[in-house]
Amino acid sequence: MDLTDSSEETRALAIYWGRTKPMLSLSLLSTTAWITPTASSTTTLTPFFKRALAMSTMTTASQPAIVDAVAAGKYVEVHFDDGAAYRFHSLWLRDACRDEEHVVGGAGERYLTATPVGPSGVSAENVRAASAEVGANGGLHVTWNDASLGPHEMAADPPRVSRFRTDFLRMYAEVVGEKLAAGARSSSAVHEDLAFLTPYSGFPSARAPKAEEMRLWKAADFAVPTFDFHEVLDPASDANLNCIESVLYHGGAMIEGCEEPGEVALRRLADDAFGGLQKDPTRDIANWRIVRKEGATSVSYDHLKRLNQHTDSSIPPHGVPALCLLMHYEEGTGTNTFTDGFAVARQLEAEDPEGYRLLATYGYDAERDFVASRVDSPQEYNRGLIVSTQPKLLQLDDTGALQRIQYNEVFRTPLTLPFDVFPKWYKAFNRFVELVHSAEYERPVPMHKGKFFLMNNWRVLHGRAGGLASSDRVLVGGTITREAIYSQARRLLRERRPGGFADVSQEEELDDEEEEERLRSRPRPRSRLRLRLRPI
Ligand SMILES: [Fe+2]
Repeated sequence: MDLTDSSEETRALAIYWGRTKPMLSLSLLSTTAWITPTASSTTTLTPFFKRALAMSTMTTASQPAIVDAVAAGKYVEVHFDDGAAYRFHSLWLRDACRDEEHVVGGAGERYLTATPVGPSGVSAENVRAASAEVGANGGLHVTWNDASLGPHEMAADPPRVSRFRTDFLRMYAEVVGEKLAAGARSSSAVHEDLAFLTPYSGFPSARAPKAEEMRLWKAADFAVPTFDFHEVLDPASDANLNCIESVLYHGGAMIEGCEEPGEVALRRLADDAFGGLQKDPTRDIANWRIVRKEGATSVSYDHLKRLNQHTDSSIPPHGVPALCLLMHYEEGTGTNTFTDGFAVARQLEAEDPEGYRLLATYGYDAERDFVASRVDSPQEYNRGLIVSTQPKLLQLDDTGALQRIQYNEVFRTPLTLPFDVFPKWYKAFNRFVELVHSAEYERPVPMHKGKFFLMNNWRVLHGRAGGLASSDRVLVGGTITREAIYSQARRLLRERRPGGFADVSQEEELDDEEEEERLRSRPRPRSRLRLRLRPI
């Protein structure tokens, strides 16, 4: 049995969506998408998988099939039943193969002995397809030429055959293949359940969120999604996935119902529901802690002062700030302020298109000393870190759509804009900041002990209202990277597929009775965004 992780499909989706050409026919909630029995193992299927395969025949109308395959040395031609045909580089196939002889099932790692690059048993420059055929399961089997299987100390006997699932090839074909014949395409239904993650895939070409994937708001109409702490942490509930989707759709969400507030609860929620907090190298623990301090020099730690709206810089990995910020009131009360930066940007673009363009073209200079800026923190910082950046305030995707906002006034340093650009850039910048802090856009949200607020740090700016915090206010929190959120959402989606294949190795051990029970009690398919929206 050859079962591979869904990450390949998700990657393919990201590639597609990143290239603005949705074309997927594969139903990602179909059980069949994740099963590829090899010819040799078909007869040993457990009843569970036999049933899963039987289910697959019910959905073949939406599944691609290979009708012919031709080995042509450096290329392999694959013809699909929808009339489309593609030429793949043989080397691409050799390199991309994810069958059980090329990827370690549990770890998801390539076998270094089978990869065609570096010290291995495969010679990349000599790779040729000796034969290609449609396997018994409908997949593609490619046999490699002897000359490519050079002896090497790492691999006395490298794999001679690569096996590919049909849906895998069909998904990648338009991205990496050369189209050979015009023909009917598969229906291009992008699965709604995954589409919302596309802007956060991390691919360089990842598109910005579409208008329909966000609900932009002004102060008066921000309907804050609210979730229950225990439900979000309950693996049987949809709340975790719905919460992530809400944060990306609405820009933020409240999480209530934590009976024992504090750092332990913060880390539990962050670790179990959102992929974990981003670790700052200057301190030993991941979360920050803000406690009132008399005479604080940093505005962050002077709880009575207003803190202007900003996005958190944290430690931008590769220049990209963390996608989310999670804050939690351990003690006391206060009022935090939130602004939908995308809504503000939309207004600015309407008022001053040239200024909008300048903010998206010219970065501003910034520098943060991660130790000095935390001089008032009760936490210990044991090593220095100074990050200098020049981010664009408005960051666009390849098509010019707004993808991310990055702005924190306190760390801004002297601008290095060209003489003739500066006045126009600054005019737009000033207007943006004015709108961000205006009563029209800035939404005050009362907070108290036990509450969490999770926000989209690429879109929503946050701050603190002045004079409204209690003297015992203790705020803890931290940032969560794009990678962590994306990974968590992807895992949840995989687990919540009907008959989910979260841990296939265990499922193979199930006998008939257990299998029946499992199918009865499997997690329900996730419904579309079910939220409690209420005024706060
Ligand atoms: Fe902040």
